Amino acid sequence: MEKLIHNDVVDALLQRRSHRSYREEALSAEEINTIVQCALWAPSAINQQTTQIAVIDNKAWIEELAQDAGREGFHYGAPCFLLFYALKDNRWSAANAALATENATLAAHALGLGSVIIGCTADYLLSEEGAKKWQKRLGVSENYEFVLGLLVGHSVDAPQPKPRNQENIKWK
Ligand SMILES: Cc1cc2nc3c(=O)[nH]c(=O)nc-3n(C[C@H](O)[C@H](O)[C@H](O)COP(=O)(O)O)c2cc1C
Repeated sequence: MEKLIHNDVVDALLQRRSHRSYREEALSAEEINTIVQCALWAPSAINQQTTQIAVIDNKAWIEELAQDAGREGFHYGAPCFLLFYALKDNRWSAANAALATENATLAAHALGLGSVIIGCTADYLLSEEGAKKWQKRLGVSENYEFVLGLLVGHSVDAPQPKPRNQENIKWK
C-alpha cells in the first residue's frame, strides 16, 4: 500500500475513536459552541441546511431520556448529548444530518474531547411519544425527525483502533 500523507486534519481523521467512558466534568460553553458551529458548517445538498441540532448539557435530562428510551447507560456517563434532526420527506436530509454529526465528532476530537455517535435512541425518539415529548422540549420543529445523537465529554478510556476492511476500497 502507498504511504499516507500526514497533517493535522488527516491525523485527526485517522485517530478519532468512539469513547465509552467519561468524567462527570461539564463542557464549557465555548467547547459546545465550537462543536455545534463545526456541525452547522457541514455541507448540505443544494445548501438546503436541513439539519436541526439540539443540545442537552444537563445530566438529569440525559438520564431521563435514557429511562424513556429504555436504554439505561447508553450515555456512558457523558455530560453532553447532541441530537441531529433531519427535515422530513427530503431526499438528502438524513445524509446532511449524518455529515453534520461527523463534523461534530471531529471537532470534539480536535478539542481533545471524546465522543461517540449514538443510534440506539432512534427507535424511541422516532416514536410518536418520544418525538412529541423531546422535540417539544428541545425546540426542534415538528416536521423534523431524529437521525443520530452524539455524546461528548472528557473521555477516560483508551479505545483500540478497529481495523478497517481494506477490501471495501475497489481499486481499478
Ligand atoms: C450510525 C451509527 C450509530 C452508532 N450507534 C452507536 C450506539 O448506539 N452506541 C454506541 O456505543 N456506539 C454507536 N456507534 C459507534 C460505532 O460502534 C463505532 O463507530 C464503530 O464501532 C467503529 O469504532 P470507532 O468509531 O472507534 O472507529 C454508532 C456509529 C454509527 C456510525
